[in-house]
Amino acid sequence: MATVHPVPAEWAARAQITAEVYAEKYRAALETPETFWRAESARIDWIKPWTKLSQCSFDEASFGIEWFSDGTLNVSANCLDRHLAERGDVTAIIWEGDDASQQRRLTYRELHEEVCRMANALKALGAQRGDRVTIYMPMIPEAAVAMLACSRIGAIHSVVFGGFSPEALAGRIQDCDSNLVITADAGMRGGKLVPLKANVDEALLQCPGVGAVLVVQHVGNQVTVAAGRDHWWHEQRAAVLADCPYEEMGAEDPLFILYTSGSTGKPKGVLHTTGGYLTWAAMTHQYVFDYRPGEIYWCAADVGWVTGHSYVVYGPLANGATTVMFEGVPNYPTHSRFWEIVDRHKVEIFYGAPTALRALMREGDDWVKATSRQSLRLLGSVGEPINPEAWEWYWRVVGDGRCPIVDTYWQTETGACMMTPLPGAHALKPGAASFPMFGVVPQIVDGDGNVLPEEPGVAAEGNLCITQSWPGQMRTVWGDHERFFQTYFTTYRGKYFTGDGCKRDEDGYYWITGRVDDVINVSGHRMGTAEVESALVAHAKVAEAAVVGMPHEIKGQGIYAYVTLNAGEEPTDDMRKELVAWVRHEIGPIATPDVIHFAPALPKTRSGKIMRRILRKIAEGDVSNLGDTSTLADPSVVDSLLTSGR
Ligand code: WT7
Repeated sequence: MATVHPVPAEWAARAQITAEVYAEKYRAALETPETFWRAESARIDWIKPWTKLSQCSFDEASFGIEWFSDGTLNVSANCLDRHLAERGDVTAIIWEGDDASQQRRLTYRELHEEVCRMANALKALGAQRGDRVTIYMPMIPEAAVAMLACSRIGAIHSVVFGGFSPEALAGRIQDCDSNLVITADAGMRGGKLVPLKANVDEALLQCPGVGAVLVVQHVGNQVTVAAGRDHWWHEQRAAVLADCPYEEMGAEDPLFILYTSGSTGKPKGVLHTTGGYLTWAAMTHQYVFDYRPGEIYWCAADVGWVTGHSYVVYGPLANGATTVMFEGVPNYPTHSRFWEIVDRHKVEIFYGAPTALRALMREGDDWVKATSRQSLRLLGSVGEPINPEAWEWYWRVVGDGRCPIVDTYWQTETGACMMTPLPGAHALKPGAASFPMFGVVPQIVDGDGNVLPEEPGVAAEGNLCITQSWPGQMRTVWGDHERFFQTYFTTYRGKYFTGDGCKRDEDGYYWITGRVDDVINVSGHRMGTAEVESALVAHAKVAEAAVVGMPHEIKGQGIYAYVTLNAGEEPTDDMRKELVAWVRHEIGPIATPDVIHFAPALPKTRSGKIMRRILRKIAEGDVSNLGDTSTLADPSVVDSLLTSGR
């Protein structure tokens, strides 16, 4: 039996969402959606209020997703302008550099001016409403400024994580025909320089459509400036006006594209729109964290991921919060860094990834205990399942048994949080994503699509679908609406399929059991095994490759690559190093294979399909029960795999 932590009394007393309120709002969102969303969307300032709530269908004939479609608004005005009268001098962003001596604070008024100036600079460089602007930045306030500046002028941003390689960046720029890139000279992570501008230069050799690059001077390293193409932000900033009117956008106008990995093919450009996304991000930010005005809130994610979009920038700023941005890493200069930041800035809400917690847990409690953490009152977890051991450590050591933990389950596609315990409403079960957010209807189906009935006291396990739309749902895959429909709505007709396995326990708590497709989750970063495979086979000496996830103590999952070399190539350690370096070059350090297993051949069925089940078992070290191998074209391949080299 899993441990259950009851709601701490102190917490229940202050929570906005109690058990009764949760039940009432959950019911209202489904039974009287018009009234529910009228009230919830009022947290946003609309220029023209919406009259049409939604037109959504997951069925092929009538497929479409629209929320608040005739309303108009501007996202940056919601995150900035409307706070100026009452909270203009409140700190919007607290920034801490990789080097702890570097700190910056921007009030809402200052952030507004920066955003207006950057919006004007973008316009001066030719950016127009609807254009795609690629943002490739370190975690500095200008990353948020760039996102908000795009939203101000109606340009669609595509943030590419700074850890991606020039090759990966180029692919993303090309896919959405981006004509402008915003970057910095470099970023710093753990004392190491990340050469962002040099990476952009390399990427742009393949991107003739990019006419302008706006470069923020951050580190001060030497960079190349291409005349006519590259522009320093500090120079542009000084040359433009400090005010910029915002565009009136339709609720369904695109806000951003964010590339994410799927089980097949190249990364998909997930498209989110304006009104529904902002409502969903702001609403969940308030309820999930039990956020109240004036609180200091830190989400440790990078803006290169959706967590950074929704819970570093849009959700908190729409709610007028003080949001902390941290450039560095949890273990630099010491393993106390996270908790020192908490103390320095009096952080009340901390939201981070299990992978970081597992890495810190391994270093011992002293690094944590050396700090006070008295300001903390709530902890959050995101991005991957949190194992009960890490959960208990988070609860006991980081939170001193005082701070509830919200384990938030969601995806790039869902815009913001879909399931979580709400600590004023639900007793906490370590590792359980617990209960759905308002408007979210989860359904567990078996492999044939049969719905596993929801009966009190009866557990069920299967694949997780969502049966109806919610405002923050992605609207399409950029440039490929058919792929959007095929990927998410055809596995189980008429339902959105998450790609995750899930169980519901006897008490009705949902537990995410991990991906059931060929997506793996490495340190909370999503990776398509097909992407790593195509990087490997692009190497001249590789004949074939198959990639699967393997359990990894800190990363959650590691990358296990089976590689068959071309005839005549030697499976040496140097070859291993060459292939690892190659994948890092093709995708980026986050795709670094943990194991390269040189395989004489891969296990295939007679029709030529690789039997991944067997590869997964071997990668997990579970070779006692490989299951039925009789359908393999050549069953002896399995023995050769067991004796060949990793
Ligand atoms: C996949 C989505 C959550 C936004 C950042 C990651 C896994 C995410 C949890 C959780 C168990 C989780 C799922 C999901 N995942 N949160 N709390 N418990 N699994 O977004 O990169 O789109 O990845 O992350 O497998 O499908 P993403």
